[in-house]
Amino acid sequence: MNRHLLSIGDVTVEDIVRILDTAESFREVGTRVIKKVPALRGRTVVNLFYENSTRTRISFELAAKRLSADVINFSATGSSIAKGESLKDTALTLQAMGADAIVIRHSSAGAPYTLTKWVKGRVLNAGDGTHEHPTQALLDLYTIRERLGRFESLRVAIIGDVLHSRVARSLAFALVKVGADVTIAGPPTLIPPDAPAWGVQVSYDVDEVLPKLDVCYLLRVQRERQRQQYFPSVREYARLFGLTRDRVEMLPEGALIMHPGPMNRGVEIDSDVADLPQAVMEEQVTNGIAVRMSLLYLMLGGMGSEVGGDD
Ligand code: CP
Repeated sequence: MNRHLLSIGDVTVEDIVRILDTAESFREVGTRVIKKVPALRGRTVVNLFYENSTRTRISFELAAKRLSADVINFSATGSSIAKGESLKDTALTLQAMGADAIVIRHSSAGAPYTLTKWVKGRVLNAGDGTHEHPTQALLDLYTIRERLGRFESLRVAIIGDVLHSRVARSLAFALVKVGADVTIAGPPTLIPPDAPAWGVQVSYDVDEVLPKLDVCYLLRVQRERQRQQYFPSVREYARLFGLTRDRVEMLPEGALIMHPGPMNRGVEIDSDVADLPQAVMEEQVTNGIAVRMSLLYLMLGGMGSEVGGDD
């Protein structure tokens, strides 16, 4: 494993298999009454979040706590960042306090990479601008492998606002790496011009893509990142690209419906579709804790500790 996890480019196929296999042990820990192992006792993990988050921040916090690490949650609001402190000075402060790992979410692409220049601890990218969100991709791979048992030639479509989606980039890169057959679909205005270079196919017609899928992965329309009007109206988007009940009927039996969250029910996915048994969003969240435990454990060298031991 690389020293830091900044993008899917930092992990090989062998690393991915090791991360997912290790996560399987930790998934079992999450089913115990006492969901804790002593693997990272004495280590300090800092969650440094400059952007809003529900799933990723709580998931990393739980992951670190279940490994018995000390956890510091640090957000831009309520800290000296609000008084103008720079990322560098914040990083040096955390370094001086002995952070072994820093989990960073930032609105600027490349901020996690910049952080690695200033700190000795490991850096994990929890989402940087429209660049990457590698831990989301790894938890999605875990969920797909657990449900469908393979990646090779699996037909996956990532549908929606791909242009502004760090999840789409990380997930497409990861799926291509493990041998899946990936299609990016959505309105032409929301498909990045360089998408074909990712090793994926591109489609602007969701109805043509759906009948061929093993996994239908939906993305939120990220209106907060859009600087112009990319489609006429939300209603029009939902009509042409949203996963409605009628469109679910076009999916092959056994196909999974996935979404990284947060969902906009009624836009990219109908509310009742989000609650179908084949929609595995809650599993994605649960698996995310195990995958992040695995990453912290492997990256912080918890190898000397017993994965299976109770605290
Ligand atoms: N999937 C995801 O990154 O969700 P949050 O923004 O809530 O962390």
